[in-house]
Amino acid sequence: MATQLFARKPIQLLIEEMAGEHRLRRVLGPVQLTSLGIGAIIGTGIFVLTGVAAHDKTGPALVLSFLVSGIACIFAALCYAEFASMVPVAGSAYTYAYATLGELFAWIIGWDLVLEYTVASATVAHGWSHYFQDFIGIFGLKLPHALTNAPFDYDPAAGRLVSTGTVLDLPAIVIAAIITIVLVRGIRESASFNAVMVGVKLLVVLFVIAVGFFYIDPKNWQPLAPYGLTGISFFGKTLFGQTGAGGEPLGMLAGAAIIFFAYIGFDSVSTHAEESRNPQRDVPIGIITSLLLCTILYIAVSAVLTGMVPYHQINVDAPVSDAFRQMGLPWAQFLISIGALTGITSVLLVLMLSQPRVLLAMGRDGLVPHSFFGAVHDRYRTPWKSTILTGIFVALMGAFLPLRILADLVNIGTLLAFVIVCAAVLVMRKTHPEVERPFRAPLGSWVPILGVCTCLMLMFALPPENWLRLFIWLLIGFFIYFLYGRKHSVMSRHLRHEITKHGVSGAGALVTHTGAPPDDPHP
Ligand code: ALA
Repeated sequence: MATQLFARKPIQLLIEEMAGEHRLRRVLGPVQLTSLGIGAIIGTGIFVLTGVAAHDKTGPALVLSFLVSGIACIFAALCYAEFASMVPVAGSAYTYAYATLGELFAWIIGWDLVLEYTVASATVAHGWSHYFQDFIGIFGLKLPHALTNAPFDYDPAAGRLVSTGTVLDLPAIVIAAIITIVLVRGIRESASFNAVMVGVKLLVVLFVIAVGFFYIDPKNWQPLAPYGLTGISFFGKTLFGQTGAGGEPLGMLAGAAIIFFAYIGFDSVSTHAEESRNPQRDVPIGIITSLLLCTILYIAVSAVLTGMVPYHQINVDAPVSDAFRQMGLPWAQFLISIGALTGITSVLLVLMLSQPRVLLAMGRDGLVPHSFFGAVHDRYRTPWKSTILTGIFVALMGAFLPLRILADLVNIGTLLAFVIVCAAVLVMRKTHPEVERPFRAPLGSWVPILGVCTCLMLMFALPPENWLRLFIWLLIGFFIYFLYGRKHSVMSRHLRHEITKHGVSGAGALVTHTGAPPDDPHP
């Protein structure tokens, strides 16, 4: 059994699989990939979460939070880029883990990516719904109360679920359905739709920076860090910094862990390797360019926001548009609402585009049913069945679940995925030094090591109950793996075949060190 759990998928096999039939369509170039990255990054994080972070956790030190979180992501992005250039296949971090750390880790990371893409999409759909309702409110329109929100929500102060008096969140269902239809139609259509939305949201972000700059009052930046510059806890005990009413750490690092959500998505570029015309060159370009650009924009927006409004007066629901309202510019509020709605739509589009591609890779390996998750549409050449399933989950979770719980869970899950990818780069350099790496993370082992350390630090800066939620999520994942994946994995079938032929030691050696198994891996 241990042989299978740690069985690694040979790099040669991954590369050979890329040449197989029934692949996705190769249409994406570097500009489209960068645009997909920006599409996934700028959204709820900058337009919504900055408010809570500045108001409750950081004060003006929010700028430093964005810097720290951005640096952690840049380390991770360089590691993703090295892997993506080496193994340019659809599964992203899942596939990297399969090639380096073995099947069990691959499953953990694949399951973890469901958090990052599907659960994050549900969170974002919920955010979209609130911005949408604000937006139609400008024209005096209102939805029936029963259709405006999930039926219950989590009250952090009381520490329990409370009723919201509604039935479901209808706009969340509608946006999930629209995005699903666009995604099933094809990658080229999705990328073009995304490019338009990215253009709009970039213009709005640049507008915020350029106009907001004239309303900065440097006095608002004092004191810089009213909650301190740290904020780390260890399973409920605050080690550095102040503690909030609910036992959560406060301070600049605690803020960095919350606004980490704003950076989530740059890694989704690596899930499009199979649709990229020149993945070994363009995927690293897409990952790094989109992240660097967004980091610079985020730092500028947070400096402007905290310079415009005293931190304790920053609005926690719509901080950016409200800052302009406070300056007496209501027309700017209208413009920013459009930017936020467009931005959040493109985040949904790219995250929901990425999830089926990870499931596709897992289906090909037999860890989830291949006939369903591996199905590529004959005409559109998209993984249509899993796209529709993802859409259904996003719609249902967005409509019915208390997403405040799920948002922080998304952060801790994604940070775990980054830790594993950075560690896997180190392992890969040791076990496969000979494999060609068109892109190599600079500074020797420093980048992956710093990536592991900074991402772990952010995990400990999140409210501590998230660890428990992460363990529960992983337990559910293990349950599914041992019930289904372990038995149906292509690798396990191959191992059984080898064990019958050569005995245990022969099979272990073959799977971990040589090329493709003799059987057809996709029966
Ligand atoms: N980074 C994405 C957002 O902020 C998930 O909406």
